Amino acid sequence: MEERIISPIEKEEDTFEKSLRPQYFREYIGQDKVKNELDIYIQAAKQREESLDHVLLYGPPGLGKTTMAMVIANEMQVNIRTTSGPVIEKPGDLVAILNELEPGDVLFIDEIHRLPRIVEEMLYSAMEDFYIDIMVGQGTTAHPVHFPLPPFTLIGATTRAGMLSAPMRDRFGIISHMEYYHEKDLQEIVIRSATIFETEIIPEGALEIARRSRGTPRIANRLLKRVRDFAQVQADGVINRQIADQALFLLQVDHQGLDYVDQKLIKTMIELYNGGPVGLSTLSVNIGEEQETVEDMYEPYLIQKGFLKRTSRGRIATRLSYEHFNYPYHENN
Ligand code: ADE
Repeated sequence: MEERIISPIEKEEDTFEKSLRPQYFREYIGQDKVKNELDIYIQAAKQREESLDHVLLYGPPGLGKTTMAMVIANEMQVNIRTTSGPVIEKPGDLVAILNELEPGDVLFIDEIHRLPRIVEEMLYSAMEDFYIDIMVGQGTTAHPVHFPLPPFTLIGATTRAGMLSAPMRDRFGIISHMEYYHEKDLQEIVIRSATIFETEIIPEGALEIARRSRGTPRIANRLLKRVRDFAQVQADGVINRQIADQALFLLQVDHQGLDYVDQKLIKTMIELYNGGPVGLSTLSVNIGEEQETVEDMYEPYLIQKGFLKRTSRGRIATRLSYEHFNYPYHENN
């Protein structure tokens, strides 16, 4: 399928995104609540010369969970090892990672809800008491060997806290919810990134990009890159509001940050299902996307902006959706 410029999913080639990553809290824009809380826990842990409690970061993709984990490690002045749930296929993979940890290190597991069950269960004792039991030998000679670990901090990231099993969730001392960014914060992020790119940007140009980035820095930075190209080729290289607007129009990102996938989703609901309620599975099949993708990537923003409602009977397109896409709205649609 055609690539979506406003996909919040990180791509392999997003090295430019990595170059924009803030290293410390003082450079990290937005997420004030999460930052302020973590800052206190980090200072307290450092004063006591202890490792930081395990941290669960949850929220939609693209909001900087990995960046936040790296900032935490930098603030704690420890090393970070990063991996992800689907990569750790068997207990041996986890043992290899745990074996390399130094006291106080951060282990970051992205998509922690996708850990295999057997690996997840192994993490319980590692998190709680810093040991694992490894089975050695086979058949009748098989026996557990106690393997102590240095104290470490597990930082887990997931799109929805509810996807994690209760025993896993309970082992995180700190649970932080990352939220969509405010426009002002995104504007500041765009200005910061433009400065790193040595691109001249007018604050109104940055605000236009911010407004159309679905509250997501990863999308804002990606759009900035495309707008910068447009400004360079079609104008004098300076990004102002008009240039940003023209470039984003060309990219088919509308004034609310919606693109053709959102359009397809909402138009399907209105045209085929009279605005709903329509079930998630039906909707996903109609637009040719996985249910999980629709639930994690498209819906949260559409719901937050009031285009869509999630009810027990299914999804409903709101009056705002009808108005935004120029359909006549009748009560009891
Ligand atoms: N780049 C991406 N996310 C950022 C953030 N939250 N603060 C500063 N720069 C960023």
